[in-house]
Amino acid sequence: MQRLRDRVAVITGAGSGIGLATAHRFAQEGARVVCADIDEEAGTKVAAEVGGLFVKADVTSEEDVERLFRTAFETYGSVDVAFNNAGISPPDDDSILETGLDAWRRVQEVNLTSVYLCCKHALEYMRRQGKGSIINTASFVAVMGSATSQISYTASKGGVLSMSRELGVQFAREGIRVNALCPGPVNTPLLQELFAKDPERAQRRLVHVPIGRFAEASEIAAAVAFLASDDASFITASQFLVDGGISGAYVTPL
Ligand SMILES: NC(=O)c1ccc[n+]([C@@H]2O[C@H](COP(=O)([O-])OP(=O)(O)OC[C@H]3O[C@@H](n4cnc5c(N)ncnc54)[C@H](O)[C@@H]3O)[C@@H](O)[C@H]2O)c1
Repeated sequence: MQRLRDRVAVITGAGSGIGLATAHRFAQEGARVVCADIDEEAGTKVAAEVGGLFVKADVTSEEDVERLFRTAFETYGSVDVAFNNAGISPPDDDSILETGLDAWRRVQEVNLTSVYLCCKHALEYMRRQGKGSIINTASFVAVMGSATSQISYTASKGGVLSMSRELGVQFAREGIRVNALCPGPVNTPLLQELFAKDPERAQRRLVHVPIGRFAEASEIAAAVAFLASDDASFITASQFLVDGGISGAYVTPL
């Protein structure tokens, strides 16, 4: 499918995981992909793989974010898709009883303030064009509570969800769609390593997934490509859950 032919798509956190898989999917769909990451090596690699452009950017810096979207526009002539996806979940963000203010603030900056900055600067171009699709990565934890808490992470994703909804409503009549992507747990190398060490921890989470496994990054990327494309032309201000049924489940199959 070539649903994004000649569209210019900016992806933050393109060097790994969901961002990496989406860079590949966007390129397959015909987009010109601008790969942003704080990790120069990973970002350069993915940009080369997809025939796109790497821009080193720390998404918590307004200067970097402004330069990122300006570079995309100056290089390719438009900004059609913004996948604001970079995020962190560090181990010192835990239960509210353990988490200090430094960890709280760092996670808010990288996961939430970054999305505010990226939307603000992407909108500048999209409003001029009278079209665009913004996809912000939230999480299923924005709509469900967890006893295995990462308090700042969860709060940041709730912020991403409500900010995306509001922007989707505000800019709907300007031809700009804004959606929050809410992935369930994804089978990343980090997750595999964690659960190999602690199978009980894996089982405690897996039991809640009706489909019976975690997502592959490519399955999340497929949903992002859909939201980016005109196939999603009537979808805005949504919480787009790609969670294997977790948020709909009470009792799961054995
Ligand atoms: N993996 C999951 O299970 C899962 C589930 C739900 C939501 N999410 C969300 O999806 C997004 C991507 O997660 P992932 O699992 O692919 O993560 P990942 O760690 O594999 O990739 C994140 C990328 O973001 C980059 N990054 C981190 N801080 C940055 C900064 N300040 N500026 C620019 N780039 C920065 C990293 O270098 C990395 O390449 C995150 O927002 C995450 O919260 C992940």
